[in-house]
Amino acid sequence: MARVLSGVQPSGALHLGNYLGAIRSWVAHQHDHDAFYCVVDLHALTVDVDPADLRARTLDAVIDLVAAGLDPEVCTLFVQSHVPEHPRLTWLLECTASMGELRRMTQFKDKGAGNEGVRVGLFTYPVLMAADILLYDSDRVPVGDDQRQHLELARDLAQRFNFRYGDVFTVPEAAVPATGARVMDLQEPTRKMSKTGGTPLGTVQMLDSPEEIDRKVKKAVTDTDGEVRFDPEAKPGLSNLLELLAAATDRTPDEVATGYQRYGDLKRDLSEALVELLRPVRERRAELAADPGAVSAILAAGAAKAGAVASATYRRAAEAMGLVPAG
Ligand code: TYM
Repeated sequence: MARVLSGVQPSGALHLGNYLGAIRSWVAHQHDHDAFYCVVDLHALTVDVDPADLRARTLDAVIDLVAAGLDPEVCTLFVQSHVPEHPRLTWLLECTASMGELRRMTQFKDKGAGNEGVRVGLFTYPVLMAADILLYDSDRVPVGDDQRQHLELARDLAQRFNFRYGDVFTVPEAAVPATGARVMDLQEPTRKMSKTGGTPLGTVQMLDSPEEIDRKVKKAVTDTDGEVRFDPEAKPGLSNLLELLAAATDRTPDEVATGYQRYGDLKRDLSEALVELLRPVRERRAELAADPGAVSAILAAGAAKAGAVASATYRRAAEAMGLVPAG
């Protein structure tokens, strides 16, 4: 069976962009792939974070992913720092990556370039992400549009390593959904919806109540020309709503646009569709909250399954580079 791996940072509550761009495909892929999904707590350390917050968000993310439909009996669900081969392989890959290629990463350029105080970990972040992927011989990596460039780097590092040291890594492919790959903030539709930088009113959380979803959709920023047409450049707010309804109902944004004359009708239907889409997640999350002990069992099993695969790949890579095995 083909392998799939993906990860999410525990840097804040999961939102509709995470769900449509990534998590929904994770849930689908767990049945037809050998699936590994991780909560990437080491990545969350690349910016200043309160230890108590990180701890709480990591556990919350695990429960939220189960609520979203991941079945820990079917897929391997784990926390990145529980598998020490992630930072170990990162070092090996850092010794094959160049400063130039990391400096070109747009996410680093946006967040830290030119700032001498920026953390080294933020700069090397994409190499840790490549290690996450390559350790599991991943064939496919389901991610939103913003991770494409990081995936390209993971592919480049794998190909370079294989060329230099022999066939060690599987070269992964990004799997980006046709709709919902770049969900924008409902209040500032030229910025992507985000766990950390978005507006509260413009961010639909995966666990928002029906009333909250309805309020946020009804207040979403559009434009004044009144014409329902999918045109992300000229009409970013309205196009985001069309794209969301398309993603929620398995259509294209253009198909959705033909059904509406008025923004208000579109907003009403979108609100209903999102409430129904997220209702099972919210209900299941409430059930899981009653059993807090379940998380540690999930994480122990996940770490053991992930660790077995990761340690074999790490050993292969280390030996190929000339490191002598311990025994
Ligand atoms: P993160 O935690 O920012 O986001 C998790 C997933 O959600 C997608 N996503 C979005 N999709 C659509 N619209 C949005 N507004 C939106 N915001 C986020 C992301 O593309 C991602 O798929 N670097 C990664 C985490 C990571 C990872 C990995 C992913 C670490 N190691 C290995 C894949 C494989 C990140 O920060 O995702």
